[in-house]
Amino acid sequence: MNTPTPVLRLENIVKTFPGVRALDGVSLSVLPGEVHALMGENGAGKSTLMKVLGGIHQPDEGQVIVNERPVVMNGPLEAKALGIVFIHQELSLAEELSVAENVYLGELPTKGFGRVDWHELYQKTDAILAKLKVGFDAKTLVKDLSIANQQMVEIARALTVEAKVVIFDEPTASLTDAEKRVLFDVISDLQANDVGVVYISHRMEEIFKITDRISVLRDGQYQGSVATKDTDEEGVTQMMIGRKLDLTRKESNHELGKIALEVRNLSSGKAFNDVSFQVRSGEVVGFYGLVGAGRTEIAETLFGLRNKSSGEILLNGEVIDVKSPRDAIEKGISLVPEDRKGQGLVLGMNCRDNMTLPQVDDITAGPFVAEGAEIAIFDQYRDSLDIRTPGWKQDVGNLSGGNQQKIVIAKWLSMKPNVLIVDEPTRGIDVGSKSEIHKLLRKLASKGLAVIVISSEMPEVMHVSDRIVAMYSGRVTRTFECGEVTEDNLVQAISGVSKLA
Ligand SMILES: Nc1ncnc2c1ncn2[C@@H]1O[C@H](COP(=O)(O)OP(=O)(O)OP(=O)(O)O)[C@@H](O)[C@H]1O
Ligand SMILES: [Mg+2]
Repeated sequence: MNTPTPVLRLENIVKTFPGVRALDGVSLSVLPGEVHALMGENGAGKSTLMKVLGGIHQPDEGQVIVNERPVVMNGPLEAKALGIVFIHQELSLAEELSVAENVYLGELPTKGFGRVDWHELYQKTDAILAKLKVGFDAKTLVKDLSIANQQMVEIARALTVEAKVVIFDEPTASLTDAEKRVLFDVISDLQANDVGVVYISHRMEEIFKITDRISVLRDGQYQGSVATKDTDEEGVTQMMIGRKLDLTRKESNHELGKIALEVRNLSSGKAFNDVSFQVRSGEVVGFYGLVGAGRTEIAETLFGLRNKSSGEILLNGEVIDVKSPRDAIEKGISLVPEDRKGQGLVLGMNCRDNMTLPQVDDITAGPFVAEGAEIAIFDQYRDSLDIRTPGWKQDVGNLSGGNQQKIVIAKWLSMKPNVLIVDEPTRGIDVGSKSEIHKLLRKLASKGLAVIVISSEMPEVMHVSDRIVAMYSGRVTRTFECGEVTEDNLVQAISGVSKLA
């Protein structure tokens, strides 16, 4: 059988930023009708490569070839005109505008004298939204949508043109399982229409479920491509990080301390109801459930971001009232939020200041923060979390998605809390760093911290927790000891099948 002509080829692409050679001679081809995974550690160059393809960055060297013709693209609209559509890792929507205006941004349909044809705009947009089975319409303002729905708007954009290539850069990060299924249907439709799909994700199970080929980047260099069916997680990991991963959990046999945090019959509106649990110092308690089960809302209540409607929170045996995040921080409770982009980082500010920001704002009494101390904190976490940046002066917005996440995690760790809550700590984080973060959480526990890990990834909760609290629809369905938990039990407990209290 002849190999089909690639819809798109990249030849020897080089792209440098001050202090970083992000792409170092990368070649790659995308075939019609294939789902092509692009993998690599955080900072390996995946998004940069796709931004070159999407016309956002111009390469320093090398060529982009579409339908066997070299092209130069000076912006995303030029790329789109060539049939290349890019769905971003960082959401890039205009929040104040409607869904329809965002979907057709830069190419609103017009009628005489350049006036926008609103009727047509809404109609076309609603037709696309119907395909995506979303629960909002074309006139909705983007700022009124959840992050997941905003992601669906990004996806809707891809369906406005006769695409030849569609690039998805970590599209599932904030989607529920139902939304993921819709996305995967969209992808197989594209595939059936001979569109080439490039798919970036750190989630191995997705990669092995929906992709045909996997290409790997390491430090900006192309490592090769393999057929998905000819490899496995271990093989891909080895290509990505150049070594095997040690995934065995080092059981730290430390004694558990006193109950650090206790929650009694806590409820908050419709978000969660009658929730009770305890976390000892030295213990990691995993909260497992589907997106929307109420776990994030519990965390927000413990951190003073949301009011409880009834119940009690006890810290070291004393009933407390958490009035605000500042109050929580002062009491020794930290939350690494799920929406790290919205709640975690100040873009335009450098890496070090982003990391040490809460201390400066909320903790330090006097006006002087020793700069040396801040740099020391930065150095410490850069090493322990393997944050890839040319230096602390780098604008945090220029870091890769995963490295931005690490900065936020470091920020909350560096506050030395007694109770640490992390919400989806490894979303968007590569496999190697993921296991480092798991080790770090267990190490922190062994030093006496009480740790709560909220995660939608079963291997993650099973790997990192001493106990697992399973939730379904705002309620705790079951609590498991680490030794007794099985995948089947867990699945049952979070799907509402078993209602054992
Ligand atoms: N605009 C920019 N200015 C300076 N450096 C940049 C810029 N964009 C990317 N970089 C750097 O280029 C390198 C590659 O980043 P890129 O975003 O492509 O990584 P990635 O593979 O997508 O990682 P992740 O999995 O974390 O999303 C990183 O070192 C990053 O800091
Ligand atoms: Mg990226």
